[in-house]
Amino acid sequence: MNSKFHISFSAVFFGLAACLFLPKAAISKEVTIYSHRHYEADDVLYAKFTEKTGIKVNVVKASADALLERIKTEGKNSPADILIAADAGRLVRAHDAGVLQPATSSKLQAQVPKNMRDSGNHWHAFTVRARVLIYSKERVKPSELTSYEDLATSKWKGRIVARSSTNIYNQSLLASIVAAAGEKKATEWATAVRGNMARPPEGSDRDQIRAVAAGIADVAIANTYYVGLLANSPDPKDRAVAAKIGVFFPNQDGRGAHINISGGGVVKSAPNRENAIKLLEFLTGPEAQASFPETTSEYPLDISGTQSKLLKSWGTFKADKLPLQILGEKNSDAVKIFARARWK
Ligand SMILES: [Fe+2]
Repeated sequence: MNSKFHISFSAVFFGLAACLFLPKAAISKEVTIYSHRHYEADDVLYAKFTEKTGIKVNVVKASADALLERIKTEGKNSPADILIAADAGRLVRAHDAGVLQPATSSKLQAQVPKNMRDSGNHWHAFTVRARVLIYSKERVKPSELTSYEDLATSKWKGRIVARSSTNIYNQSLLASIVAAAGEKKATEWATAVRGNMARPPEGSDRDQIRAVAAGIADVAIANTYYVGLLANSPDPKDRAVAAKIGVFFPNQDGRGAHINISGGGVVKSAPNRENAIKLLEFLTGPEAQASFPETTSEYPLDISGTQSKLLKSWGTFKADKLPLQILGEKNSDAVKIFARARWK
């Protein structure tokens, strides 16, 4: 009797002590995301996460650069738990700025391939996109296309469109070419491709695809999910654009097509660190992974495992296995090379 009383007294006492003295993080029921992504589908996923865990998700949306500046300015008092960016280069930039902390989790280790996370676990990918060649089905046979390198040859004179080099997707693509072939070859490539353009770089990836459909150029460099967004658009003009173009995965006989990611890192000062890790586990887990191809036309982390009809229609492909943190490490080289190549 006495000992039973002792046990239950201890339990009550320590229970009370836990409630009173445990840090706020351990009992908090919210998580705050600073996100560069702008998809409604993400909000639907966050609502599912809340339903499952009871953890409320607050989202602040802005450009990756603006969010990084905000985290730096807010310092220790930042409410941000996770920074989400749509490019490995930007996540590396955030890590270099010292605003991220490692997220150690066996689930994340198991769910995210090694080349799609920071070697110190400061960020993890949750979606994949390939930067490919979009061609006119009227004027180009897929057999005429081979690699990014081939775009530098004279046969493509006046036939290529691509967006500005200020865009991080192009910087990451060039960073992958620097990693594969060195600075000299990458400079020659950027100079020749710029020389082969049908018009000076302007507009978004979607605008490049529209230019190919409109006959301004024959080949565009663009991310795969933009084809999906056009194909699934409520605007019939967008769907007509998607019908005129084909998706070609370059470098299949070599290193594979250049891929990039969307991913998130836990902010160093995160007030709700455990919840942040739980959310990253959810985004990289089976339910979210199955949803991305259907909603945003992005690839899941297991690229070949996608069940999406549209993504499957583009064919299977070999992806470059380059550790994606190298895209960030070679970013400043890529920016310098684009300036030298006069690719504005
Ligand atoms: Fe994008």
